[in-house]
Amino acid sequence: MERFRVAGGSSLRGSVRVNGAKNSALKLMAAALLAEGRTILHDVPAITDVDYMAELLRRLGADVERTGTVVTIDVPGEIGHAAPYELVRRLRASICVLGPLLARCGAADVALPGGDAIGSRGLDMHMAGLAKLGADIGVEHGFVVARAPGGLTGATILLDFPSVGATENILMAAVLAQGTTTIDNAAREPEIIDICTMLTEMGAHIDGVGTSTLRVEGADRMHPTEHTTVPDRIVTGTWGVAAVMTRGDITISNGRPEHLEIVLDTLTSAGAVVESSADGLRVAMSGRPRAVDVVTLPYPGFPTDLQPMIVALDAVSEGTAMITENVYEARFMFVNELARLGADVRIDGHHAIVRGRSALSGAPVVTTDIRAGAGLVLAGLVADGETLVSAVHHIDRGYPDLVGELCSLGADVVREPDPDGFDD
Ligand code: EPU
Repeated sequence: MERFRVAGGSSLRGSVRVNGAKNSALKLMAAALLAEGRTILHDVPAITDVDYMAELLRRLGADVERTGTVVTIDVPGEIGHAAPYELVRRLRASICVLGPLLARCGAADVALPGGDAIGSRGLDMHMAGLAKLGADIGVEHGFVVARAPGGLTGATILLDFPSVGATENILMAAVLAQGTTTIDNAAREPEIIDICTMLTEMGAHIDGVGTSTLRVEGADRMHPTEHTTVPDRIVTGTWGVAAVMTRGDITISNGRPEHLEIVLDTLTSAGAVVESSADGLRVAMSGRPRAVDVVTLPYPGFPTDLQPMIVALDAVSEGTAMITENVYEARFMFVNELARLGADVRIDGHHAIVRGRSALSGAPVVTTDIRAGAGLVLAGLVADGETLVSAVHHIDRGYPDLVGELCSLGADVVREPDPDGFDD
């Protein structure tokens, strides 16, 4: 077990390049299962979640190799259809093999991933959508068991909520279904556009990409492709918030400002200078930030995955802010750790009232998920003294080399063994 020792007080300055998005790359890897042959993915982040997904694909019969940020996936003619619990429990995103397996094999047994530290993570929309496509689907002995021996048939599916994962699973099943599938109230995240682009390269016919109505014309087969992952907007946003909190100046290359409009507007309201460039963006800040209210919503709303960083920002801003979390019921759990640094946060249901303090004070804290971890590290960067962030294996799931990149921007952060060894 390891921890980060974060010394507060540095202002982050310089350039950093953003990698491909975790939440796209994992799904692109699953989509590779749809076609026999070799698919090559570029700009796949070097994070542990990618290793877990690679292990799952191997278990299903694929050959997976990673060289730097290039992942090569060789998919045989016949693949397995069972995703075991010991792999799924480490990586909730492994549920996204459900659609491809059902489409390719007419069968899928995928362990139920369960909830996690940010809340319960339902699958009802995934299952209802695949049932509409003709699958016989249910939960048995802790597994989602789906069967469609005669293949899937296109249907009209209305999602109750624009779920990212349900949209992806239904899409990946629909590309090999017979006839037309319409997904209404589909998610519109840039990662959904990315997977639609890759599926189209593989031979799928998809209309309405980037809108909340996706229309898929089923094809007989998909063929392998070579594809570059969309840049990670959550990592980009993390650097933007870091620049504002530390009163720094960060140029973020490979960032896509158009995927972060509401986030960048929020940082501007906090007092930052935000400039877009051909290759990314620059966020600079002088003086103390102003408190900013945020309401998390599906894209193009404010991303829930940046909520912990904004709570950390508001904790040191001038004034009082209200943060409303609409996606996960337990995503404010981490504020108990932020409070250990002296943050003044009161939770009332799905609202957090944050009263900005002029200073935080370093302390030991533990993270329980990727994004809370990033929020705690940012808070440590502006706290007096040292902050020890434990259980950083959570952070490694989403940020390839956070310590190295922070140091390259002038932060004083080291990674070290954690004698207390938090592994939850
Ligand atoms: N939900 C249901 N039933 C369903 C599907 C979703 O109740 O059938 C609920 C979930 O419980 C949750 C909400 O709807 O409360 C949002 O779920 P969604 O399906 O949109 O999210 P996801 O696909 O499970 C992805 C990202 C998350 C990100 C969300 C929202 C991946 C691997 N994960 O999750 O990323 O927060 O979309 O944008 O793509 C992270 O990276 O830290 C992370 C948690």
